[in-house]
Amino acid sequence: MTDKTNSLQHLAIIMDGNGRWAKKRGLPRSAGHKKGAETVKDIVRAAGDMGIKYLTLYAFSTENWQRDPEEVKGLMGLLREYLKSELKEIQENGVRIMFIGERQMLDADIAEQMSKIEKDTADNDKMTLCIALSYGSRQEIVAAVQKIALLAKKGDISTNDIDIKMFSDMLYTKDIPDPDLLIRTSGEQRISNYLLWQIAYSELFFTPTLWPDFSKEELAGIVDNFNRRERRYGKN
Ligand code: IPE
Ligand code: IPE
Ligand code: MG
Repeated sequence: MTDKTNSLQHLAIIMDGNGRWAKKRGLPRSAGHKKGAETVKDIVRAAGDMGIKYLTLYAFSTENWQRDPEEVKGLMGLLREYLKSELKEIQENGVRIMFIGERQMLDADIAEQMSKIEKDTADNDKMTLCIALSYGSRQEIVAAVQKIALLAKKGDISTNDIDIKMFSDMLYTKDIPDPDLLIRTSGEQRISNYLLWQIAYSELFFTPTLWPDFSKEELAGIVDNFNRRERRYGKN
């Protein structure tokens, strides 16, 4: 064990368990999503207070489009509300917002609002909040391969130019460092198509807590656990 504290620059979270939270209370799934959106606000604030520079939240996966249309509609409605209601606080707190995922799948008004928020917050530098929306990591990787193949076909690059750095630069996440820590709530121990390339050396933490019940106190405990881990990157 080393006694130096790890640096937590980038925290990624798979916010899971809204549906089960609601079911346990005999409520519709939408109630879980609503409560989950409150947790998002608390955790964004807490991460900023803890000095975390990058927070990437999995809000909606490419595969989530296959859910009941009513649930998808409800989630998009919540997103609209969030983007509107949080902008002021986000600006005041110096948070830069970016989105990763397939925007063409989203309603035009949401996509427009997203671009506007990215532009309006571009100069904020306290923390970057990256929201993965309509995001799938395999899709992201395939899109990167397509871009690279096109460059090679045009003769702009040779195969030897393709390396880890170049590949990373073709991903949505090109401007942000890889996650140091990935947390998944709800007890599921899987990645569900999230940041597959980027988490090569991330520390993983799975908690049984359902996302609507996740708190800044629990986050602090997990960060404490992370700080005590030894990251080796394959070295001795
Ligand atoms: C996470 O909660 C939110 C989204 C995936 C949009 P779920 O809706 O997956 O909740 P569970 O996993 O069914 O409990
Ligand atoms: C992952 O959760 C996606 C988000 C949290 C947005 P899911 O609930 O969609 O994942 P699975 O279906 O349990 O793998
Ligand atoms: Mg789930």
